[in-house]
Amino acid sequence: MDKTTAQPEAICGWMECLSDPKRLRILHLLQGNELGVVELCDVLQSPQSTISRHLKVLSDARWVRNRKQGTTHFYRTILEELDPAARRLWLVARQQTERWPTVRQDQLRLQRRLLQRGRDGQAFFAGAAARWDRFRSELYGHTFSTSAVLAMLPDSHVVADLGCGTGQIAAMIAPFVRQVIGVDNSPAMLKAAVRRLAEWKNVELRRGDLAALPIDDGFCDAALLVLALTYVADAAGVIREMSRILKPGGRAVIVDLLPYDRDDFRRQLGQRCMGFDLDELRRWMTAAQFHVTICQPLPPEPKVKGPALFLAAGRREIQGAAHDSRDGTTN
Ligand SMILES: C[S@@+](CC[C@H](N)C(=O)[O-])C[C@H]1O[C@@H](n2cnc3c(N)ncnc32)[C@H](O)[C@@H]1O
Repeated sequence: MDKTTAQPEAICGWMECLSDPKRLRILHLLQGNELGVVELCDVLQSPQSTISRHLKVLSDARWVRNRKQGTTHFYRTILEELDPAARRLWLVARQQTERWPTVRQDQLRLQRRLLQRGRDGQAFFAGAAARWDRFRSELYGHTFSTSAVLAMLPDSHVVADLGCGTGQIAAMIAPFVRQVIGVDNSPAMLKAAVRRLAEWKNVELRRGDLAALPIDDGFCDAALLVLALTYVADAAGVIREMSRILKPGGRAVIVDLLPYDRDDFRRQLGQRCMGFDLDELRRWMTAAQFHVTICQPLPPEPKVKGPALFLAAGRREIQGAAHDSRDGTTN
């Protein structure tokens, strides 16, 4: 390691650059990646003026290099080209920040954005496959694909939509299953759901709490819990309730937020917690007698402004099977 001592002004300048969370996130992204301003804006979900301001600070202090290609400036950080003292400071800062939820989510968004870059390339658009993808959505839209997939649901199914809100998901499922039971504790949300779902006689809306669902034991074939878990005090308890209302072999599907650290967002949306750790969620599901089949981050869609989401799904263990799979014995 280089032991030369940098001038105090230089050290203070570098530390000032590193004192801003967004600049730290930019440095994480630019290490090993050359990115344009628009790409950084998409990944960091920030306006161009903000990103350009931070990039100027970083460029002036030589943390990042930029290269112009056509009308676009591309930025990157090359560790070996940093002043040795700045490099040491960055390595400490990097190690202290690499587990920040925002930094992890940035990496997910970056992967997605880089895929899109590939698609922007001329070679891709020269191909018939790419033309078809574009024509397909231009000509027919997107919702018919969802309908086609939902039509695979068994028409005998009773499905619970827990924390159903205004009934968006219940409306999607209703045409394909025997019954949908929507549960929510907000009269205002239920009122909107009643309006939306008026035409579907197989949908029943019940006012109730996720912690004590107004549904009998083993009544449902499947249960959905979408964007509702961050609002409850005892998430593990709600997952146990999901398990209780399902038939053995019934399916639970949960979509919610990965850990994030934007307290302004949490307060604006009135959430009790700032997302879920997937290992903990898997433990809660297993303890509630689910065989977990999926538990993974969802790729963030381009241009969305909220934190990244996960998808978890599990099958309610058939009585006795949970015991067998835990201790490895058979009856
Ligand atoms: C963000 S909305 C999501 C609605 C719907 N699942 C969707 O995807 O559009 C969360 C919903 O959960 C409901 N909710 C929150 N806590 C609840 C609780 N303890 N019991 C019942 N419903 C609850 C809210 O009233 C709200 O309608």
